Amino acid sequence: MTIGILKEPGVEKRIAMLPGEVAVLKKLGVNIKVERGAGERAFASDEDYKSSGAEAADRKELISASTLLLSINPPVEDDINSFIEGQVICSVLNPTVNSGWLEKARLRGLTVLGLDLIPRISRAQSMDVLSSMATVAGYKAVLAAASALPKFFPMFMSAAGTIRPSKVLILGAGVAGLQAIAISRKLGAVVEVFDVRSAVKEEVKSLGGKFIEVEGAREDVSAGGYAVEQTEEFEKKQQQLIHDHAAVSDVVITTAQIPGKRAPVLIPKETVMAMKPGSVIVDLAASTGGNCELTENDKTITVNGVAIIGNSDFPSEMPADASKMFGSNLINLLKLMIDKEGNLVLDMHDEIISGTTAVHNKEYVSQRIKQILNIK
Ligand code: NAI
Repeated sequence: MTIGILKEPGVEKRIAMLPGEVAVLKKLGVNIKVERGAGERAFASDEDYKSSGAEAADRKELISASTLLLSINPPVEDDINSFIEGQVICSVLNPTVNSGWLEKARLRGLTVLGLDLIPRISRAQSMDVLSSMATVAGYKAVLAAASALPKFFPMFMSAAGTIRPSKVLILGAGVAGLQAIAISRKLGAVVEVFDVRSAVKEEVKSLGGKFIEVEGAREDVSAGGYAVEQTEEFEKKQQQLIHDHAAVSDVVITTAQIPGKRAPVLIPKETVMAMKPGSVIVDLAASTGGNCELTENDKTITVNGVAIIGNSDFPSEMPADASKMFGSNLINLLKLMIDKEGNLVLDMHDEIISGTTAVHNKEYVSQRIKQILNIK
């Protein structure tokens, strides 16, 4: 079997797999082609790929020769007819944005695996690209905030007097939030954290954050570690709590998300107006509407002296390690899909494979994709 690694579109700097991971994949007995120049923005040359056992090829040739195509963003800009019926494409789907493309892929008879559909179960943890990218985003969010802030993060006792540490408020303690807590603490800030899931309280504390909470949050164990929507009364109390804490914070990093839904608004305009001029909001949920009412996706704006950073592309700003993590996750998934002879086998009885497969044999497969796209 030949596996093709596609060049990413537009300003994307990452690539689905770097030469180091290609060498590991090769050991599964497959041929690998990489689109010419695809790794350059992640600092990997065609020569590096060649040394790892992959052959550089033009896009057209690569697409026609590969059984399985790997990419981070789905190849939506290509003519769907240039793909071959039965061919498998494996990428992060972003299904709400790319539903039209997915439907075309289904009708064309392609099999599409959505890496953002991988079930969040322990056996699939090593394949979870979203967690890896959220780790990068949480880290970069803190660095972006620290460099935009007109103050130090850590406390300083110097001959010029004492500088008090900055206060960071983190909303949402999932993967990105926990990473943001850890990095903010390493930089010496005082960290407060809010999340609707009380299960994260101990983890927050162990990283040195102070958990602030509103009683009476709705939780659902069947939601697989994700948050569920809250009642109106709870949301009011929550908004007041966040408002009071944001008003005295120097940095607010928001990461709250409910899968498949618009991001909850946790920082309305009034809260921004109550914040101190010079303070900074980094809204990691910008691409799904933002946790701050004023966030503009992929822009930094200033309102009332408060900088609101709506960068949705943090992983692409760290292409070397982000691509390395992505590729390692991908290999762990591919190990479930490649047999001893190096052939592709999609076992739909495996909940990871069926949960990740968006379309196959001209049908929608994964329950989550059906839910997200409202397909009966
Ligand atoms: P996650 O699902 O692990 O964590 C989200 C957390 O938010 C959960 O702990 C959840 O309980 C909490 N939450 C949900 N609703 C809430 C509410 N109303 N109030 C307080 N907390 C609430 O998600 P993960 O992987 O940490 O990703 C976080 C965000 O970062 C997502 O929006 C994701 O799309 C985004 N992201 C952004 C990137 C960027 O470059 N800007 C890159 C990667 C991810």
